[in-house]
Amino acid sequence: MAYDVARIRSEFPSLDSGWAQFDGPGGTQTPRAVGEAVASVLTGPLSNRGTTGESEERAEAAVHGFRLAMADLVNGHPRGIVQGRSATQLTYDFSRHLSKEWGEHDEIVVTRLDHDSNVRPWVQAAERVGATVRWVDFDPETGELSTEAVAAALTDRTRLVAVTAASNLIGTMPDIPAIAAAVHAAGALLYVDGVHYTAHELPDVEAVGADFFTCSPYKFLGPHFGVLAAQPELLERIAPDKLLPATNAVPERFEFGTLPYELLAGATAAVDVLAGLSTSGESGESDVPGSRRARLTASYAALHEHEEVLRARIEAGLADLPGATLWSRASRRTPTLLATFAGHEASDVTQRLAAGKVLAPSGNFYALEASRHLGLGDAGGLRVGLAPYTNDDDVDRLLDGLAAAVA
Ligand SMILES: Cc1ncc(COP(=O)(O)O)c(C=O)c1O
Repeated sequence: MAYDVARIRSEFPSLDSGWAQFDGPGGTQTPRAVGEAVASVLTGPLSNRGTTGESEERAEAAVHGFRLAMADLVNGHPRGIVQGRSATQLTYDFSRHLSKEWGEHDEIVVTRLDHDSNVRPWVQAAERVGATVRWVDFDPETGELSTEAVAAALTDRTRLVAVTAASNLIGTMPDIPAIAAAVHAAGALLYVDGVHYTAHELPDVEAVGADFFTCSPYKFLGPHFGVLAAQPELLERIAPDKLLPATNAVPERFEFGTLPYELLAGATAAVDVLAGLSTSGESGESDVPGSRRARLTASYAALHEHEEVLRARIEAGLADLPGATLWSRASRRTPTLLATFAGHEASDVTQRLAAGKVLAPSGNFYALEASRHLGLGDAGGLRVGLAPYTNDDDVDRLLDGLAAAVA
């Protein structure tokens, strides 16, 4: 198994800009193959989905290919893959679909670790129907969100629990399988935000027990939209408001209007690039024969090793930096590091880094509750995120830039 970061970087035209991009948790750079797939579908013969002629067939193939690719990525069922404008849009949509059946005796559970897109849609939907919202806190000292804390919020009235698989602010990965067991024992549904998680961990919706799992291809080398994965049988039981002539089939009844075929093709290409991250030597061929899922498994393992080394270097560098506080502390977490610096605004440090073409943005990154719960208010901190193309040179430049910025 090999991780050839130089070969991987050569697939990203945008890296010629010379910037060290530590903004992956906000959105990754895009490999050539993804852009080419988008352009090829868009500029080739293309109509609405159908079976009459090449243009209709190519639209059909783009949708089919996308559902297969996403099902491989999350270990789900192609009929359970729903496309949406963004994860935020999908969560708003599903909050409306699901809350049609809630009433004032029902309860929903949200956490202060989550991105606001997996908080506010549920809170607002609950408010609309008079349902009770229960909040689960994480420990601001350790960054951990315990299963016990989630379990303590469950009652026989709980209808849904919304929790992140990984915090986009501090990287914490709660124990989703254990949380799923508790949620299901209470007879509730589990809605998992996998948007940050999927950039670093290969999802397995079956194994983790998520009833709903969202992710966004633009966080893992693909185009800008969102995906929701669920069991087709569960989707069959949910009735969204929809146009009369639009199909009632699953998953299409959750996808409003015409699908962006070209972006779907781009997401398929992104999954294929991810599956090819682990390669052998000069050939650039994947190490692993067999299914795309098997290649994804090998690639994520290789990515993991690569990111662990870089993360350890950055953490050691931050530990040596006078006045730096690292807020990413949970025992299981992604390589996403949130830092603040005594005597310096994080946003100023971001600007100092940018002068050296190092991009590490500052803010709360919409994990507003988490930022406030950490005592960082709405300003948050400086976030350093890794992506498949991050290399040692990027890390050298980051650490040199930080040392100069806080000197
Ligand atoms: C953890 C997490 N959830 C949800 C979102 C929102 O994703 P989208 O832009 O697809 O709505 C983000 C985006 O930053 C995120 O990091």
